[in-house]
Amino acid sequence: MEGSVVEAESLLARCKSVADVNVVEAELIGKRSRLAEVNRELRGLPPDVRRERGRRLHEVRGRIESLLVARREELRAASRQTRLESDRIDLSEVMSFPLDRGGRPGGRMGPPAPARGHPGVVQRTRDELEDVFVGMGFIVVEGPEVETDWYNFEALNMPPAHPARGMWDTFYLRLGDPETVLLRTHTSPVQIRLMQAQRPPIYAVVPGRCYRRDTPDARHVPIFHQIEGLVIDRGISFSDLAGTIDAFTTAYFGEGIHARLRPAFFPFTEPSAEFEITCTICAGVGCRTCSQTGWIELGGCGMVDPAVLGAVGIDDEEWSGFAFGFGIDRCAQMRHGIPDMRVLLENDARFLRQL
Ligand code: PHE
Repeated sequence: MEGSVVEAESLLARCKSVADVNVVEAELIGKRSRLAEVNRELRGLPPDVRRERGRRLHEVRGRIESLLVARREELRAASRQTRLESDRIDLSEVMSFPLDRGGRPGGRMGPPAPARGHPGVVQRTRDELEDVFVGMGFIVVEGPEVETDWYNFEALNMPPAHPARGMWDTFYLRLGDPETVLLRTHTSPVQIRLMQAQRPPIYAVVPGRCYRRDTPDARHVPIFHQIEGLVIDRGISFSDLAGTIDAFTTAYFGEGIHARLRPAFFPFTEPSAEFEITCTICAGVGCRTCSQTGWIELGGCGMVDPAVLGAVGIDDEEWSGFAFGFGIDRCAQMRHGIPDMRVLLENDARFLRQL
């Protein structure tokens, strides 16, 4: 019987899991174990032998039980430890770059450097455009992407049911009365917010995301970015607008790219123009991206309509100004020669890595 304790020790030492311990437990003290059999035999023994045997049996069983408890706890602790090790996030691997002997990254010691992310092409284009305008004396402000009908249309000289609203296919939100809250279709509503917040003179640009229910194609995606410009001061004329557009085009695209203004219509500017540059994909020859015209429309511009100044209580006798709004994604597309704008939304790492 005493041999059972030694046997238990060696069996338990070989156990690799709690499940193994359960098997060994059945073998050692279960109903069909040797000890259970000894227990059953007790009944047939004379009382004094039975008492003595029963006491030893109880003692052996107790020792085996505590061995089982100890081994189970040992195995549980070990598995907890393994799990902790495998779950641990090794920040040092991400943060330390292998350094060569001169302390420069990229040496042969240590793990290979993980790939580093970088700002996307649209974000970088936005930063660059902001820099150009900050250099020209503009401030940078932002406005909300969820707008009311009043800011997106009405205050911009488009009363309800005005036909020009059809120029922007709009996503409406189920908030408040039907068709009162929407995803802004352009950054122009921020013109209104700016003029409400600040008395002229105003020299500001507003970059941000816009939404239109457009079918995606080479030049359109339903979520895109614009940069709006607003200048309000005394004695501002169309030539200030043309000169600003020209200065911007040269600063951002370089000397080789030409811009042209063509007459257009926007309810919130008068006169209005469309702002186009030479298509960089085909160098003006004509291609699929520019629908064979050789020109790419970057956006619209014009002199702020007196009705808009009226909507925010600015005296149009004293003040005048111009506004423009053009596509940041389009700028990125032309600057980097991206034939199809849809790749900007696809998140294909092979594309993103190149930019
Ligand atoms: N908001 C116009 C658009 O998105 C562009 C524009 C801005 C035109 C400012 C004139 C003045 O189409």
